[in-house]
Amino acid sequence: MMRQGGFLIRGGGVAILLTMGLLACPKVLFAASAEENYKWYCSQCHGLEGRGNGINAGQLAVKARDHTDRSDPNKYMRNLSDKIIFKTIKFGGEANKKSSLMPPWDGVLSDDEIRDLVKYLRKLCCE
Ligand code: HEC
Repeated sequence: MMRQGGFLIRGGGVAILLTMGLLACPKVLFAASAEENYKWYCSQCHGLEGRGNGINAGQLAVKARDHTDRSDPNKYMRNLSDKIIFKTIKFGGEANKKSSLMPPWDGVLSDDEIRDLVKYLRKLCCE
């Protein structure tokens, strides 16, 4: 029993050292890629591939945008400016007179992360 206890304490010490090491590293090492952020924060409504068919999509009174434009003959996303897309992501749909079902991400995602997401959306819609 004693030996086991000692082992646990040593194990805890290693974990604490590891955590301190990680905290000391610059944040940039841990910044998530736009694709990861999209999968994590956006896919439940917009779908893992951005086609507007996420797991919540059926519950939304306003359809989540198909970011690939594939279901849209008018190619809505292609015609949005980067500035508008940035504003919608940061301040939510309402900021551009769109549905408030599109949530604001200010405070969750940094401006840099949002800029990367805009680039990611450009790839989804237009490449
Ligand atoms: C809770 C569901 C939900 C989540 C999560 C969500 N969205 Fe949306 N999003 C919507 C809905 C609904 C619309 C359609 C709004 C409309 O047409 O009025 C939309 C529209 C958009 C649009 C198009 C805006 C426009 O001008 O029509 C963009 C760009 C967008 N979302 C980006 C994102 C990004 C990036 C994320 C993740 C950081 C995200 N959304 C997460 C529901 C969601």
